[in-house]
Amino acid sequence: MAEVGIFVGTMYGNALLVAEEAETILKAHGHQAKVFEDPEVDDWASYQGKYALVVTSTTGQGDLPDSIVPLYQGIQDMYQPHLRYGIIALGDSTYSHFCGGGKKFDALLQEQGAQRIGDMLMIDASEDPEPESISNPWVEQWVTLLD
Ligand SMILES: Cc1cc2nc3c(=O)[nH]c(=O)nc-3n(C[C@H](O)[C@H](O)[C@H](O)COP(=O)(O)O)c2cc1C
Repeated sequence: MAEVGIFVGTMYGNALLVAEEAETILKAHGHQAKVFEDPEVDDWASYQGKYALVVTSTTGQGDLPDSIVPLYQGIQDMYQPHLRYGIIALGDSTYSHFCGGGKKFDALLQEQGAQRIGDMLMIDASEDPEPESISNPWVEQWVTLLD
């Protein structure tokens, strides 16, 4: 059984919906999962050696939503080779920095030595208005990669 913290960055709730469905799927597979809607550094720190699933949309011009900025800033100086993570990025390809928020978070974790499990999922709101229809099959696949 794996322990997965699901860390959400959202403006209008799409990423939260994706996160909640991911939580349901992970639990259905016998794992522990918990969604953090306004994630803090302490929440994040408690998942070292476990799994983090980052689910974030993009705002502004490739920026992270306000709900996840404190976490992103708070973990800047960490070195976290024992963290395994997955990432689901929500965006819209009609904007110039497609899924920029998720890409930024992924780049930080890569720099810090964290181990990404699977590829980053990028969901395009201009093509798929129901993001969970894309994320749920991805999570079903991701769950098979957990120890
Ligand atoms: C003001 C605004 C700015 C946005 N900027 C970007 C952007 O730079 N890149 C991108 O890929 N998507 C951008 N988007 C699209 C959102 O990321 C996308 O609609 C996403 O599904 C919203 O999810 P949320 O409800 O979880 O925030 C933007 C949306 C809004 C409303």
